[in-house]
Amino acid sequence: MKRIKIFAPATVANLSCGFDVLGCCLDTVGDEMIISLTSESGVRITKIEGADLPLDTKKNVAGVAVEALLENYDKEVGVDIEIYKKIKAGSGIGSSAASSAGAVWAVNYLLDNPFAPHQLIAFAMEGEKLASGNAHADNVAPALLGGFTLVRSYAPLDVIKLHTPQDLVMTVIHPQIEVKTSDARSVIKQNVTLKQAIQQWGNVGGLVSGLFTEDYDLIGRSLEDVIVEPMRSILIPEFKNVKNAAIAQGALGCGISGSGPSIFALSKGMETAKNVAEAIRKVYTKTGLDFDIHVSKINSKGIKIID
Ligand code: HSE
Repeated sequence: MKRIKIFAPATVANLSCGFDVLGCCLDTVGDEMIISLTSESGVRITKIEGADLPLDTKKNVAGVAVEALLENYDKEVGVDIEIYKKIKAGSGIGSSAASSAGAVWAVNYLLDNPFAPHQLIAFAMEGEKLASGNAHADNVAPALLGGFTLVRSYAPLDVIKLHTPQDLVMTVIHPQIEVKTSDARSVIKQNVTLKQAIQQWGNVGGLVSGLFTEDYDLIGRSLEDVIVEPMRSILIPEFKNVKNAAIAQGALGCGISGSGPSIFALSKGMETAKNVAEAIRKVYTKTGLDFDIHVSKINSKGIKIID
């Protein structure tokens, strides 16, 4: 029986200006999974620790993602999946993406890599579709490819890995309230004005350029969302105060992580990122709400084998 244990990383999607198209991969936060190939064909979720999630393959994001992969594989294969969740569901840091991306990556590895990364992204997106009703790729792509990614197009799927400036460090606060991605998507109006679109695509271009040229000021100026953040931030307690505190401590930018409730701040250097963590900790301590704070470098590799 071939078996592998992996680290399946958390991810921050959207990065303010890039709703459904930009994302990046974290280093210190993620799930663990054990994937085994077995002689009994079919996909089984044999164990889940750390979360109350379905063992039924068809209702589990890892299960449906691996089934999508196996539908495109010409031999009979059996797969057992154990999931050790560390990323809470509904946290906004890619919990479902870690499971679906981790599972397809590991199965592909155990089968000697018959599928290319862009195919794995498409399979993992089936998990996202189950989780949120929408097959977005901005969490699964950075989990699978590492670093920063851009979904240039969904049809056909065209995902580009961007450059990761070495000094970027992410601070993430996760208030312990659950915001379902499907709910956070339902508050978004379906139309934008031309003025908003012009601002937003200027920022996406600026952010991509800033990443490649390691222009930290440009990265900071581009971390702006004039479309989705104003509608979603009302779902997140103290969002404005957290953002103000992060920027006052020197963060390059701050916004909603994925569909929330987590809030991310991107800083140049570990020291600033830790100062930002302390500043936002103070803001949240006053609320009486439970929360976690993570400080993480950008993980340019993505999923990693740990055993
Ligand atoms: N782009 C998705 C959204 C990410 O914002 O709904 C969900 O994590």
